[in-house]
Amino acid sequence: MMKVAIVGTGYVGLPTGVGLAELGNKVVCVDKIEDKINRLNRGELTLYEDGLEELFKKNVAAGMLSFTTDMETAVKDADIVMLAVGTPPHPLTKEADLKYIYAAAAELAPFLTGYTVVATKSTVPVGTGDEVEEIVRKNNSKADFDVVSLPEFLREGFAIHDFFNPDRIVIGAESDKARNMLLELYRPFAGKCEFLCVKRRSSETIKYASNAFLAMKIHYINEMADFCEKSGADIREVAKGMGLDSRIGKKFLNPGPGYGGSCFPKDTNAMAQMGKKYGTRLNLIETTIAENDARKARMGQRVIETIREHPEGKIAVLGLAFKGGTDDCRESPAIDIIKEMIRHSRNIRVYDPKALANAKAILNNTVSYAESVEEACKDAEVAVILTEWEDFRHLDLARLKKIMRCPKIVDMRNMLCGEEVVAAGFDYQCIGRK
Ligand SMILES: NC(=O)c1ccc[n+]([C@@H]2O[C@H](COP(=O)([O-])OP(=O)(O)OC[C@H]3O[C@@H](n4cnc5c(N)ncnc54)[C@H](O)[C@@H]3O)[C@@H](O)[C@H]2O)c1
Repeated sequence: MMKVAIVGTGYVGLPTGVGLAELGNKVVCVDKIEDKINRLNRGELTLYEDGLEELFKKNVAAGMLSFTTDMETAVKDADIVMLAVGTPPHPLTKEADLKYIYAAAAELAPFLTGYTVVATKSTVPVGTGDEVEEIVRKNNSKADFDVVSLPEFLREGFAIHDFFNPDRIVIGAESDKARNMLLELYRPFAGKCEFLCVKRRSSETIKYASNAFLAMKIHYINEMADFCEKSGADIREVAKGMGLDSRIGKKFLNPGPGYGGSCFPKDTNAMAQMGKKYGTRLNLIETTIAENDARKARMGQRVIETIREHPEGKIAVLGLAFKGGTDDCRESPAIDIIKEMIRHSRNIRVYDPKALANAKAILNNTVSYAESVEEACKDAEVAVILTEWEDFRHLDLARLKKIMRCPKIVDMRNMLCGEEVVAAGFDYQCIGRK
């Protein structure tokens, strides 16, 4: 059993803390947002993740997991301190803004006791480990510690599943002692996944290079979908044919409205900026960023086009989260598409099974909010699916046809069976086929 402190109790910190406690470690999660910690201490989850609640309650009850706003309580006696604070894009430069990392490193340093590994789980630019090391040393000249890069690859919506079933664990350590402690922490996964021990700078780069590659893969299939719409091919068949090639792989070949979320947009931008910093043009990444932004605006236009004959008609939006299985709306394509539509329509009613509260904080009163699919679609001119929630796969088409003003569906996640929707009397548009 190890004592682990997790600094930052968000989409990464909380599932990681819960997972490490479940593996038998004593975990203290610290966050500076008092309300968040109070809620967690009352037994209330602060974010939605499948399977999180049960393990959270179990480990709190067993005394293996606790929450605090006090850095000293969390860090003193910890063997490993993990940094899981945000690294949002800098509003001007689009580089990763490291102010939370720097602040957290300075705040935790004075409380380190004995040998401690400071492991950065946050996604940080190459070289950040060196800076964290310097900050910790400056704030505690006596500290005995190593800074390690420990990038996180979990997918939101599958955070608990991914914690227990990682593809690989990447450890970027410059010292054997630190590397061995992390190998020990993750020993329960030995034999189940690849452990990759690399230079700290390689580890920092692996995370960005992976996310940028995935973003490019999504953009590539979106471009192919555009091509199929014009050429008469069917993207479902094309993607299947491509994915059967083991060099390409089946995953990330689902076309949609453009990628989004808290990671891909910010990480592609940060990678492009790093390229500039080191004098290497990353053209593929730069093009992907620009084209993905343009795509979301085009998708908004595509919906507006469907109400051209009734511009006052209501647009029902189904799905606000950046993907199914999460309540996270950060950089959600749905939000960007809605913002584009708002420029042309003031009659938009939105629904999401989990993300309404987060979406409200962004969209305020520019749209109206519904508590169900039916409430959103009542009297609508068109219904638009923007997030791949499983519930939307089983829409009651007969009922929708009755309550909508016009039976029209734009399915930007290709969730529905087009033939069935058309047979039910709808005008149906999807992505990548006519
Ligand atoms: N969200 C994901 O799916 C995902 C996946 C892999 C990697 N990452 C990376 O992990 C990092 C965290 O992302 P997230 O989505 O969990 O962010 P988040 O915003 O959900 O959580 C970050 C938390 O850190 C807290 N915090 C900030 N400064 C603090 C401090 N000094 N002391 C204590 N708490 C502090 C914030 O209050 C917040 O609750 C980012 O670098 C992100 O790129 C995220």
